[in-house]
Amino acid sequence: MGFLGSSPSSSSSLPLCFLLALFLALSAAVVCNGGHTSSFIRKEQKSVDMPFDSDVFRPPSGHNAPQQVHITQGDHEGKAMIISWVTMDEPGSSEVVYWKENGSSRKKTAKGKYTTYKYYNYTSGYIHHCNIRKLEYNTKYYYEVGIGHNYEVGIGHNVRRFSFTTPPPVGPDVPYTFGMIGDLGQTFDSNATLTHYENNPRKPQTLLFIGDLSYADNYPNHDNTRWDSWARFVERSVAYQPWIWTPGNHELDFAPEIGENKPFKPFTHRYHVPFKASGSTSPLWYSIKRASAYIIVLSSYSAYGKYTPQYQWLEAELPKVNRTETPWLIVMVHSPWYNSYNYHYMEGETMRVMYESWLVEAKVDLVLSGHVHAYERSERISNVAYNIVNGKCGPVKNQDAPVYVTIGDGGNIEGLANNMTNPQPDYSAFREASFGHAILDIKNRTHAHYSWHRNQDGYATEADSMWFYNRVWNPVDDSTSSES
Ligand SMILES: [Fe+2]
Repeated sequence: MGFLGSSPSSSSSLPLCFLLALFLALSAAVVCNGGHTSSFIRKEQKSVDMPFDSDVFRPPSGHNAPQQVHITQGDHEGKAMIISWVTMDEPGSSEVVYWKENGSSRKKTAKGKYTTYKYYNYTSGYIHHCNIRKLEYNTKYYYEVGIGHNYEVGIGHNVRRFSFTTPPPVGPDVPYTFGMIGDLGQTFDSNATLTHYENNPRKPQTLLFIGDLSYADNYPNHDNTRWDSWARFVERSVAYQPWIWTPGNHELDFAPEIGENKPFKPFTHRYHVPFKASGSTSPLWYSIKRASAYIIVLSSYSAYGKYTPQYQWLEAELPKVNRTETPWLIVMVHSPWYNSYNYHYMEGETMRVMYESWLVEAKVDLVLSGHVHAYERSERISNVAYNIVNGKCGPVKNQDAPVYVTIGDGGNIEGLANNMTNPQPDYSAFREASFGHAILDIKNRTHAHYSWHRNQDGYATEADSMWFYNRVWNPVDDSTSSES
């Protein structure tokens, strides 16, 4: 009172200045304490699948030429690679020939196997899987598929050659860069996402794919030729760097109305993962180590209640993680546990109730999800105190808890999820309904730079970013809200 009335000459202007200052201070406080809903406005348009005759879907020329080539890690440590591809006309050879880029070592041959499946009125091509083992770390390899299978036009006529680089040895301060894409599909937007990912100047070395691959199940009778076209579309990336697979709901392909009662049939025939290496009994949940990261993949669409195989596996798995060896602990699960969009709301809730306390106890750094076709990043929060009768049923800030990132914004045919709950909950640090991808650039055991890139921007623009401080080696507050 005295301050405002102390100078008669300024009695008219001071309150205005003061109110303005107060308004600005309060505005800043709102930004600091709450989450941020991006004001970025994008053109509203429907996501449309690329036509089947698009060049991105074009099969390689030549009789029985290998197509849909894709690779993923083939063991627990990163010294093996599963090479997969499809031949359409005849089985051909399941062998892979491979050799190091440098050095005088001779070419080696690994033997694989092929499988086929039927789905309603569709019969698959010959799906080959070959796990090449005992690779050297940090080494570029070339590999060839389609070896000597075409006797009519001459051996090797349709051989296709690709390359990949193995990761550095597993260790605590190994820099490594992961990309992240979810819910990709095969629309023009999907193509934009993949193109932006490929051109990201941080040069991601391995992609964490968070489920929902082809969206073939949106077609009549789950037209599995759209599984084929999707695999041809992404070959330009996944033939050269491993994509780590997580099952999503669009991998279920459960359609009893057309006699398809076995969930995950196309997905599990086409995409093999090294689940046995981590003691898992199912390809739908497993773990790998890669460089300085330990990655746990969970299945939102498999049983996870007490006594189930997934429950037992995860309970035994988390204590095995040695953060001195792999400081960064990342969990991938398709359906988000924290999501403030009005889509798939609370779908991840039952799994959160089952497992969240384990993840907090294990000091997981990042939980990566998809499913909701938008982007969201949370504060470090947990909601593990509730015991039915105590009323403590809201999320609270918790520095032992992971950051939850939802990145189901790959660009599929179902379009963007742009309807958000309001007001934005405190635990939601940033959210925006745009298509894009993310990068986790691990520097050492304490720091990792994280960024999200929307498709409307240039390749290097970071629409959202934060420095992750490792929960074991540098467990200080890394909230972007508290920074400001
Ligand atoms: Fe989904």
